[in-house]
Amino acid sequence: MVTDEHLDPAEPSSAVLEELERLCVDLAVAAARLIRDERPQQVGVAATKTTDTDVVTIMDQRSEELLHRLIRGARPDDGILGEEGADVLGTSGLTWVIDPIDGTVNYLYEIPAYAVSVAVVTGDARTEGGWRALAGAVADPSRELVHHARRGGGAWTVPESAPAPGSPTRARRLAVSTEERLGRSLLATGFGYDADVRARQAEVLRSVLPQVRDIRRIGSAALDLVRVADGSVDAYAESGLNAWDLAAGWVIVEEAGGVVLGRRGHRPGKALTVAAGPALVQPVQALFDPATQ
Ligand code: IPD
Repeated sequence: MVTDEHLDPAEPSSAVLEELERLCVDLAVAAARLIRDERPQQVGVAATKTTDTDVVTIMDQRSEELLHRLIRGARPDDGILGEEGADVLGTSGLTWVIDPIDGTVNYLYEIPAYAVSVAVVTGDARTEGGWRALAGAVADPSRELVHHARRGGGAWTVPESAPAPGSPTRARRLAVSTEERLGRSLLATGFGYDADVRARQAEVLRSVLPQVRDIRRIGSAALDLVRVADGSVDAYAESGLNAWDLAAGWVIVEEAGGVVLGRRGHRPGKALTVAAGPALVQPVQALFDPATQ
């Protein structure tokens, strides 16, 4: 099993972490402005991926191109891994893991729940369980907010127009909900694009629904994780996530006092990702993890 010690042979100094966090914020805000301000009247589907409903828009591609260019300019030795195909092997040991639009279907339908997710990770970003995020930012263009964190620095929300990390006047510090009762918990979840996977996820929800207050399907994993971090949902669970869906949200949840788990004995990832406050996370894991049933 990969442990955090294996992933952090040499954690960067706090000054470097702060610089990385600041860059995460700047990058996420730049891409958020692009996809909001330059959104064409007809967005249109540029391509499909795993299924006919797993779409890529021209703005996903433009957002990833912008992030790629800015990262190469600022940190030429770092790697890049992006949802729409960016794949650069770096030499520094750090990799930028980017989702240029998380919640693409919402973006396509003009439902204001989509995000840009930017994280910088150590370890092997291409191997599930092989990496750990050092800092991350999730920009929410519809609300003109950016949520961000770095290891040891707390989790924060700032207006897009004043995104300096730690800005004393306008930053709001995030904290997970203190709800401990499963039956009172509002649980965010999501579904994959593949029909068979969705059928299995619906089956799991049959047993979950009677045991929680209610569920929410917001349509952006990055925003679901931010909602756990700011306490506006009590927990989140989903299977099928990729590194770019969860890297930034993971560090934000942990810095807000929450816990992110996978299946029992595994790190968060495709099989399962669960996020909640410390008292709730294992009961929620047990609802979704066949290994605990
Ligand atoms: C998707 C969203 C959705 C989640 C899916 C993700 P995308 O990302 O985060 O909420 O349920 O698992 O794939 O495709 O919009 O970048």
